[in-house]
Amino acid sequence: MTEQIVILDFGSQYTQVIARRIRECNVYSVILCHDTPAVEIAALAPSGIILSGGPSSVYAKNAPLSDKNIFALGVPVLGICYGVQLFAQFLGGKVEKGQKREYGKGVLTVKDASCALFGNLPEKLQVWNSHGDKLTKLPRDFKSVAVTENSEYAAIENRARKFFGLQFHPEVVHTTRGREIIANFVHGVCGCGKNWTMRNYVERAVEEIRTQVGTEKVILGLSGGVDSSVAAALLHKAIGDQLTCIFVNNGLLRGREAEVVQEVFGRNFKIKLQYEDASKLFLKRLKGVTEPERKRKIIGKTFIEVFQNAAQHAGKTKFLAQGTLYPDVIESVPIDGNPAALIKSHHNVGGLPKKMKFALVEPLKCLFKDEVRQLGLELGLPKEIVLRQPFPGPGLAVRILGEVTPERCAILRNADAIVVEEMKSNGLYYKIWQSFAVLLPVRSVGVMGDERTYDYTIAIRAVESQDGMTADWVKLPYALLEKLASRIINEVKGVNRCVFDITSKPPGTIEWE
Ligand code: XMP
Repeated sequence: MTEQIVILDFGSQYTQVIARRIRECNVYSVILCHDTPAVEIAALAPSGIILSGGPSSVYAKNAPLSDKNIFALGVPVLGICYGVQLFAQFLGGKVEKGQKREYGKGVLTVKDASCALFGNLPEKLQVWNSHGDKLTKLPRDFKSVAVTENSEYAAIENRARKFFGLQFHPEVVHTTRGREIIANFVHGVCGCGKNWTMRNYVERAVEEIRTQVGTEKVILGLSGGVDSSVAAALLHKAIGDQLTCIFVNNGLLRGREAEVVQEVFGRNFKIKLQYEDASKLFLKRLKGVTEPERKRKIIGKTFIEVFQNAAQHAGKTKFLAQGTLYPDVIESVPIDGNPAALIKSHHNVGGLPKKMKFALVEPLKCLFKDEVRQLGLELGLPKEIVLRQPFPGPGLAVRILGEVTPERCAILRNADAIVVEEMKSNGLYYKIWQSFAVLLPVRSVGVMGDERTYDYTIAIRAVESQDGMTADWVKLPYALLEKLASRIINEVKGVNRCVFDITSKPPGTIEWE
């Protein structure tokens, strides 16, 4: 069984970050609901258990608890924030409302440098706090090993039992040496090796896919996005020609998208690729439609229709492969007063109707996005595909306000190509979440040479984000903005004005629709 760390989720917004930090140490980690029975956890034979933070108070009536038998498994435990308060409560300590909320950066002073968590670290560390409650009495057989200005018990340990508690968050980047603290726990305390690498994963996943699929056929809807592309490459390695990828051209793709996909997957990878050019059908159905939700519905419905027809051509097929990722399958913890824990990625899941009676193959479902990217590179996919920015399923239709026409699609494609090209040549494209052009169906007057023009406006959008749920606009250099505007207006016929979107999310969204 793979060596792994189990993280029990008490609803912290950082739980997934903990899991990623552990995986960055090349150790596999899984997130389980806080009340998972100890026997189920024991069955996974974890090398260590981490109790996440969370928004509740341990003394509140409905406080989320863990099975207290986890403390008898003989496995090292690290409690973070709420997690340490919880085990303090279970093991005879005391938690009370703090006089002062401790929030933001603080300085940790390590009092006992022999504590395994602080091995090879200096005495003073910058840490990130986010808690109102406070440990006021140590649990039995624990001692304090580090303090902050407001807390005598900022880090505690029971060395014999390998139980540790941190009042601050080692997983967030503001705890500058936090990665090393986590590494000290997983390698030093739990004794994990560095076995979780995408190279190892390929071998394991290939075996698993072969076992699941046998000699049956698999189809996959290839969109050209990162997830479906990596899933395609992995499946192809595992089952070769048993895989057929269906690529639907909905007429709303970026410039050269259809060619790139055919070139990479068809010609280079020699994957069986069924190319369905349904652009005319999509654009016909979108004619005259201006309302955003209706546009989305038409596109979704047409996609299913085209995909279903295409799937029939692929012959008798038992399996449908999907590029589902780990964040889509982690069960969110519904904790009182914390609806944030319930927000899931709202767009990129689902799609095909349940009545399409396929069994699912989801070879990426235990991976985070950054791991999928590494896996893609490992499988030999080009950087252009693996590191590309997200592109919405309904494509240019959510970037053309009002009616979607072939003429507007062509204008937007040309403008967008310039944005991508300039972002790449300025070294910014791969650094930020998304950068693209939006076409506004607003015509305004301009002059070009001696002529008056009456043309469309292009909005440029560039955002920084971790997961698309919140975003901040990127402060692009003036020189780049100037170049973008001048190139778009000069090179794209039909555009005579450019604006730059300076809205963050919330209150805005990333796409304009
Ligand atoms: P919004 O506009 O809601 O977008 O702030 C958040 C992220 O989701 C992407 N997006 C979509 N992705 N199908 C997708 O696959 C969609 O219908 C869709 N709509 C938005 C958007 O590009 C951003 O990254």
